[in-house]
Parts: sequence; C-alpha cells; structure tokens
Amino acid sequence: MLLTRLLPLTPAHAAVAATVQARCFETAWDTPAMATVLTMPGIFGWLALTGDDATGMIIGWRVLDETEILMIGVVPEARRLGLGQRLVMRTKGTTTFLEVAVDNSAALAFYRNLGFERVGHRPGYYQRSDGTTIDALILRA
Ligand SMILES: CC(C)(COP(=O)(O)OP(=O)(O)OC[C@H]1O[C@@H](n2cnc3c(N)ncnc32)[C@H](O)[C@@H]1OP(=O)(O)O)[C@@H](O)C(=O)NCCC(=O)NCCS
Repeated sequence: MLLTRLLPLTPAHAAVAATVQARCFETAWDTPAMATVLTMPGIFGWLALTGDDATGMIIGWRVLDETEILMIGVVPEARRLGLGQRLVMRTKGTTTFLEVAVDNSAALAFYRNLGFERVGHRPGYYQRSDGTTIDALILRA
C-alpha cells in the first residue's frame, strides 16, 4: 500500500493544486489564479501525495487563532480513506470556519463527523455552472 504524505502547499505547486481542485469541484481556479491565492498573506495549504500522485489538498486563511477553510478536496479514488480528516487536522488549535453548499451531503456528513456546528446561513452564496445559485451554511469547530 502506498503511503500518503502531506506537504506544505506553495506557489510552485499551483498547477498540481489546480488539477486537484478541478477533479473535486464543478468550477476551479486556473494555475495563475491558484498561484496568486497561494502568495496572499495569511494563506496556507497542504498537498496530499500518495506515491507520486496528488490526491488531495486544503487551502486556508489564518488570522491569529482563527482559520477559514477556503477549499478542501480529495480526488474521487482516494475518498473515504481518512485523508480529508488528516487535512482538516492541520487547522487544529484554531477556531475554524467554512462555508458548504446546503446540498453537499457528503461534505456535511464529513464536517459533522469532525464536530463542526452550524453557525450561519448565506442565501445564494454559490453560483453553479448552469447559472443557478445555492445557499451555503457556515460551520464552525
Ligand atoms: C468532503 C471530502 C473532502 C471528504 O474527504 P474524504 O477523504 O473522503 O473524507 P474522510 O475519509 O476523511 O472521511 C471521514 C469521515 O467523514 C464522513 N464522510 C466522509 N465522506 C462521506 C460521505 N460521502 N458520506 C457520508 N459520510 C462521509 C464519514 O464519517 C467518514 O468516516 P468513515 O469513512 O469511516 O465512515 C471529499 O468527499 C471531497 O473532496 N468532496 C468534494 C469536494 C468538497 O465537497 N469539498 C468540501 C467543500 S465545503
């Protein structure tokens, strides 16, 4: 079995991070946009590598003792192996917030399992590729 290691995500990983994002989300940043995000103050990230394959990542924004998870994704073939949980654990020790679409039942189950609680609701927060919008819940742990 191949081991999965977590590496700090840097702008040098922008292309691979954009690929992971595109495999996990309906819309994704391109490589230059990803590189720009990864150079912003307070931004941090971790990239999961299983053997030589990028299998997941988390990008967050930390200010003092608070973290906002901007993105977390695990590629489909590596899901339900505990990798998402390992990535979220990298925010441990801070109060962590995130937004999640109300119909993302997998992510809601994932966050509930990690002890996240609903603290807010943003109507029409996400825009889908078909032009419709969907509400987001704000979760905190
Ligand atoms: C959400 C996501 C990151 C979870 O990653 P993962 O590596 O599969 O999660 P883990 O293996 O660490 O799951 C830990 C626990 O969370 C829960 N969980 C995770 N995925 C679940 C699912 N699809 N259905 C129900 N429970 C789930 C389970 O309790 C799981 O433990 P178990 O496998 O022993 O039952 C992954 O599904 C993903 O990338 N989804 C697409 C992108 C996305 O929606 N990101 C979040 C946006 S806010």
